[in-house]
This record gives sequence, structure tokens and C-alpha cells, in this order.
Amino acid sequence: MTPIQAVSRLPKAELHLHIEGTFEPELMFQIAQRNHIAIPYQSVEEVRAAYQFHNLQSFLDIYYAGAAVLRHEQDFFDLTYAYLQKCREDNVVHSEIFFDPQTHTARGVAFDTVIGGIRRACDTARQEWGMSTALITCFLRHLSEEEAFATLAQALPFREHIIGVGLDSSEVGNPPSKFARVFAEARKHGFLTVAHAGEEGSPDYVHEALDLLHVSRIDHGVRAEEDEALMQRIIAEQMPLTVCPLSNLKLKVVDDLAQHNLHRLLQRGVLVTVNSDDPAYFGGYVNDNFTALQQTFALSTAEIAQLCKNSFQAAFLDNETRQKWC
Ligand code: HPA
Ligand code: ZN
Repeated sequence: MTPIQAVSRLPKAELHLHIEGTFEPELMFQIAQRNHIAIPYQSVEEVRAAYQFHNLQSFLDIYYAGAAVLRHEQDFFDLTYAYLQKCREDNVVHSEIFFDPQTHTARGVAFDTVIGGIRRACDTARQEWGMSTALITCFLRHLSEEEAFATLAQALPFREHIIGVGLDSSEVGNPPSKFARVFAEARKHGFLTVAHAGEEGSPDYVHEALDLLHVSRIDHGVRAEEDEALMQRIIAEQMPLTVCPLSNLKLKVVDDLAQHNLHRLLQRGVLVTVNSDDPAYFGGYVNDNFTALQQTFALSTAEIAQLCKNSFQAAFLDNETRQKWC
């Protein structure tokens, strides 16, 4: 099996994926039209041309604007079902999906509407082709602790359908410590925890996510490499990093994919995984990320297989299911 054949043939899990970031321009136009919502673009080409980012914030501004056309349960179903079909094409057999309730509840869309549509799509994919999914509710870190607590309260009635809580949005200036109490409360209710840290923020943010939020995985974490003691800890504890190479390229975390540290991290024994983050905005789904890495670093079939195995190792799966895929 060549490395490129391995990319398409090997089953894998995706662990860092924002459902709002899978909103392809074609579907955005369709939903905007049926909901009678004006968007500031004339064509799909114009939307794609607007996807030129110079940092995380310039992306987030467009990402939140796009999500504003999502109003009804069917919209969340259509969005999620389209993503799950991409998973099927890419041989992603398990996906742990982030959603940002505050992006929608702030516009008067009920939590129930958001999770209802997402869950119905996940149930359909499970019935149709055995796709496995889990949901992670993210708190928007540019908003207050109080608003995160209100979001946690809204999530509690759906506790059995949500495996964990996460932390996303504008990282710098919004450290994990701001959410230590709400994460402690979430853990009391049995939620697992993850957090974006070390994407644009310093390694201190990764330390805080580990020590104050007690995360099971770090989302991104690429800047952890700047702190050797932290690296030693991440390797010793086999703390997973859910890395998103094409995202890091588009948001200028790296200037060039050849400068990306994923291959180096893998060679050092870090439990790294490959993920797409916001594939509709960053130019590709999971297999596109694998392919870009393979072409840049000449990854071997064994390295591709290791990355796929890592994805199950780091997933919130029971041991029996994990064994089945590893
Ligand atoms: N970083 C932070 N917040 C996000 C991202 C990201 O890469 N994608 C969607 N929300
Ligand atoms: Zn992300």
C-alpha cells in the first residue's frame, strides 16, 4: 500500500471539527435563500474569494457571519449531514463534533433546535452506514464566564448526548484560567474536557488547560513546542494534540506547510492526530490534510498508519471499540 493509498483506505477518527466550519458556500446560499436572509455576497465564487485570512480573528469574523443564516432544526440537520457524508468519503468512521451554542442562542435560536438537528443527522448516519459520532459543546472564550455558565445550564438537559465541553474562539487575551470554575462545574456533571490552546496563544495557555481545566486533549497545541519541559510532559503523559495543518496554514500560524511541526512532533513520540478544524474555510477535509502532509514531508505508509491509530487512541471511545479500529 502506498502512503496515498493508506490515506484513503485506512479508517480514522476526526477529533477537532467545528460543525459551523463545515458550512460550504453552496449550502450557505441555499439556506440563506430559504430563510430569506440576505448575505453580503453575490455568488459562491465571491464567498470563496472572501476566505483570505491573516489570523484567527479575521477568520472568526467571517465564520460567525456565515453561521447567522442557520435558524431552523432542518438547517442544522443539513449542515451536519453534509459533513457526515464527507466523513464517509474520507473513511472517517468516528467523529467528535464541536458545536458553538452561543453563536446561535445569541440570535434567539434555541439550544434544543441546534442540538436537535445535529443529533438527527448523526442518528441518520449511524443508521445508514454505521457512522459513529460524539458531541462536544464549546464555550466561546471571548464571552464571559457568566455566559459560559448559562450555556452549561442549557446543555445539562442533553447531558447524555454530549460527551464533553471545549473552549474555542479568540485565544489571546482569553486564557483557560478565565473558565476554570465553569470547567470544574462541567466535570462534576461528568463531562470530559478539551480546550483550544497553543494555536496563537503561548505555551502558558497549554499549561493552564492541563492544570486548571484538566483537559483530556489539547486542541492545536502546536506552540507547546516552544517550551521543552511542557513537551516532555505531553510526551510522558501521552496527552493528545489534535492538530489541524491546513487550518494553521490558512490562519498563518505557519507561513508554509514545510514549517509545520506535526512531523517533528510525531517523530518525538507525541500523540498527535490530523484533523480539519473548519474544512469549508480552510481548503480541505481530513484526507486533504493527510495528503498535504504526505506530499510536504514524504510521510511513509507506517507514519500514516500511526496517525490513524493515534486518532482512535485519543478518541473518547470505549476500549472494545478502540481495539476494533486500532
Ligand atoms: N480556533 C479557535 N476557535 C475556533 C477555531 C479555531 O481554529 N475554529 C472555530 N473556532
Ligand atoms: Zn478548532
